[in-house]
Amino acid sequence: MEDILWARGLRRHYGTGRALVRAVDDVDLAVAPGETVGVVGASGCGKSTLLHLLGGLDRPDAGEVWLGGRRVDGLSETAAARLRRREIGFVFQSFHLVDELSAAENVELPALLAGESRRAARRRAAGLLERMGLGGRARHLPAELSGGQRQRVAVARALVNDPRLLLADEPTGNLDSAAATDVLRLFAALRAEGRTLVIVTHDSRVAGTADRLITMRDGAFADETVLGARPPGAGGLGAGGLGALSGLEA
Ligand SMILES: Nc1ncnc2c1ncn2[C@@H]1O[C@H](COP(=O)(O)OP(=O)(O)OP(=O)(O)O)[C@@H](O)[C@H]1O
Ligand SMILES: [Mg+2]
Repeated sequence: MEDILWARGLRRHYGTGRALVRAVDDVDLAVAPGETVGVVGASGCGKSTLLHLLGGLDRPDAGEVWLGGRRVDGLSETAAARLRRREIGFVFQSFHLVDELSAAENVELPALLAGESRRAARRRAAGLLERMGLGGRARHLPAELSGGQRQRVAVARALVNDPRLLLADEPTGNLDSAAATDVLRLFAALRAEGRTLVIVTHDSRVAGTADRLITMRDGAFADETVLGARPPGAGGLGAGGLGALSGLEA
């Protein structure tokens, strides 16, 4: 089957000389439709940079990114934004919610930008917030929410346009275990619908849901583990291969 996401020779360096940081260094990646890929690694190893490159939020210094058979790394900012809106849900590590908008309005915004009616956007946002356990917080501003609640609003916003591909950067990083369970349930439902997920995480519960786990070190892929292969749509928290995750939560 054709890969939904494909990257080759991906490179992003910062600075020069002694200050050079090889944030992403000649990375190759192919993600099949319906696959869940986990990306783990120490702080600063390049996980967020990689995710930004894959989502067209940053441009590589070298290499290519293809999404659904289309090369996307050289797109103009407008074209990249349009593509993201239609095809990719992105959960930022630092949320990036709009401070002046309520939780519900933040979630509705990408739907409105994609041309959805106000009524449909509102209905969809309300449903997602409900599933995130935030039904009672829809009218709150981000400043009136806890870090974990803001994070769940960010997850809901990433899903409002029904993306084929979800790129999530530490989506449970600020959540207690009950709230993380809400997010994991939602991800399991997305998997069951055949969606593709690339999730950067320090959380072994999240990593344990992946079909494949990639460990990054100094901007490169250091290790790749195929976790217990489950039939697509099996959902749930696969226990297979969890031994490979020991020490992840350290
Ligand atoms: N704008 C920038 N300018 C210079 N260096 C940067 C910039 N952004 C990131 N870096 C460096 O690139 C490397 C990779 O950063 P990145 O944010 O991708 O790490 P990460 O794996 O996501 O870390 P964490 O787990 O802490 O989120 C780090 O060493 C960081 O200091
Ligand atoms: Mg990061």
